[in-house]
Amino acid sequence: MEDKKLIFSGIQPTGTFTLGNYIGAVRNWAPLQDEYNCIYCVVDMHAITVRQDPVKLRQNTLNSYALLMACGIDVEKSILFIQSHVKTHAELSWILGCNTQFGELSRMTQFKDKSQKHADDVNSGLFTYPVLMAADILAYNADLVPVGVDQKQHLELARNIAQRFNQRYGDFFKLPEPYIAEIGAKVMSLQDPTKKMSKSDENPNSVILILDDKDTIIRKFKRAVTDSETEICYRDGKDGINNLMTIYSSVTGKNFAEIESEFAGKGYGDFKLAVGEAVADHLEPVRNEFARLSADKAYLKKCYTEGAEKALRYSQRIVSKVYRKVGFVDRT
Ligand code: TYM
Repeated sequence: MEDKKLIFSGIQPTGTFTLGNYIGAVRNWAPLQDEYNCIYCVVDMHAITVRQDPVKLRQNTLNSYALLMACGIDVEKSILFIQSHVKTHAELSWILGCNTQFGELSRMTQFKDKSQKHADDVNSGLFTYPVLMAADILAYNADLVPVGVDQKQHLELARNIAQRFNQRYGDFFKLPEPYIAEIGAKVMSLQDPTKKMSKSDENPNSVILILDDKDTIIRKFKRAVTDSETEICYRDGKDGINNLMTIYSSVTGKNFAEIESEFAGKGYGDFKLAVGEAVADHLEPVRNEFARLSADKAYLKKCYTEGAEKALRYSQRIVSKVYRKVGFVDRT
């Protein structure tokens, strides 16, 4: 690989990506491919921290891989692979876990939220999830990690773990920086705009899935919760409208002032329809490309097999140095 900075990011295959995943993270991944060495991953091992139907998980993983390609990840430019295919992640995770404190993991807000939500299955994988995430990043010694705001705390922990390892064993890991989009780093639910848009939301009207068809997208936007005022402007307290303006801005490239003047004197109904249409039109090429790619199973298999080989080769060099640093005996 050329001597450019290294980007790493991942996404869970827990169903079709949401518009939040897309705007907050995935759509930013493709444009980075020319300037950086990029490594992207479908994190199926993270997904099993909550119960998954094995048949669905396998299908969702393959669909997520194809969706990333449909969103512009080019396997000629970047390494794109499935996490469970590359054993170094689990290997490094163990070592990093031995350099992570129980107290640090207990403070993770995602753990607190998920252990409440899945109270009957607070398994140790759910607890150590951020350690595996740190291993994903540090196995490649990544410089930058493009994510939405909700992953910031995990990334700070990854930096702390790296720092602690460096203090104990001598400087080795780079401290990865978050790379967070200015607009759209937290897309909110359409039904409760004080909450993050999330795949696991029980109300399907809260969430736009990027494979939803045009009618569905427009219908969900028409039902979006706003406020009792009439003016389309970005202002504190107008969470619903602010969210719609953010989404509209992300897919059209217009700034808030332009959007405010475009809709001056118009009603919320007109605005919601315009947002729905703009999102549906923006996502149409992704849907078409996904349909084309997912029909070609042999090609997908070739891509993820080669991706895993490249990722393993890259990360193995780093992880074997880590093995030496902690004092494991060389196998050869
Ligand atoms: P995941 O699968 O929940 O989400 C994937 C990416 O989408 C972003 N995102 C959002 N951004 C804006 N608004 C939203 N409503 C929204 N919902 C999700 C997330 O911030 C994320 O960037 N732990 C990670 C996956 C992971 C990872 C990694 C990421 C595993 N290893 C290493 C980076 C580096 C997660 O669960 O993302």
